[in-house]
Amino acid sequence: MTTQTPGPAAGLFIAFEGGDGAGKSTQAAELAGALEARGLTVLRTREPGGTPIGEKLRSLVLDHGHGHIDARTEALIFAASRAAHAEQVIRPALERGEVVLTDRYIDSSVAYQGAGRDLGTEVVRTLNEWATSGLQPDLTVLLDVDPADGRRRRTAGAAAEDRLESEADEFHARIRAAFLDLAAAQPEKYLVLAAQLPVPELAARIRDRVEALLALREGSPA
Ligand code: TYD
Repeated sequence: MTTQTPGPAAGLFIAFEGGDGAGKSTQAAELAGALEARGLTVLRTREPGGTPIGEKLRSLVLDHGHGHIDARTEALIFAASRAAHAEQVIRPALERGEVVLTDRYIDSSVAYQGAGRDLGTEVVRTLNEWATSGLQPDLTVLLDVDPADGRRRRTAGAAAEDRLESEADEFHARIRAAFLDLAAAQPEKYLVLAAQLPVPELAARIRDRVEALLALREGSPA
């Protein structure tokens, strides 16, 4: 069940989700460019991170070398980073009427910690709804990637794998299934695309869906 609290006023909130190596950042950048060209103010941000405290939490939870981090601690660190992000960055931007594009949001915790770490998707969702006072995206773009494909794509970029990326393919397969379940439960709130489609085609399909959303808003009474 989702809780909707007093809504994000005039802005539009879009989350990009998907497994590691899905190409979310590329698509968020493409969409930001298109919307800015249309005269909209766009805020691009990411999780974990997005605030000074969030960036510290990001390095705590993703970098190797902080000793063992158990699953509940991991879930709470992601939720803490998200609480600061929602309160300090996302909600104020939406209230200013901006378009907010975030690289990952609540669904990442539901998929990675709830399903991947096996903490349970419902409890992780509840924790994060509390952390964000119920702030939900208007649209989630899910770039669906096969785990082996995702690993190939990100290791081609040569950066070392972080704590989560270096988990086994079975872990990433559970995450993929959880993302698809989330989308299937609320199809009107999701755009699901195969990550291996060509970048320009993905960008065009995302743009079309967002343009439709914007047209709906502009057409509706304030
Ligand atoms: P991200 O920076 O998106 O990595 P990449 O750029 O490689 O896609 O996310 C970092 C990692 O953190 C990624 O493996 C997913 C994981 N993660 C969670 O496990 N839970 C969360 O709530 C979030 C936001 C990220």
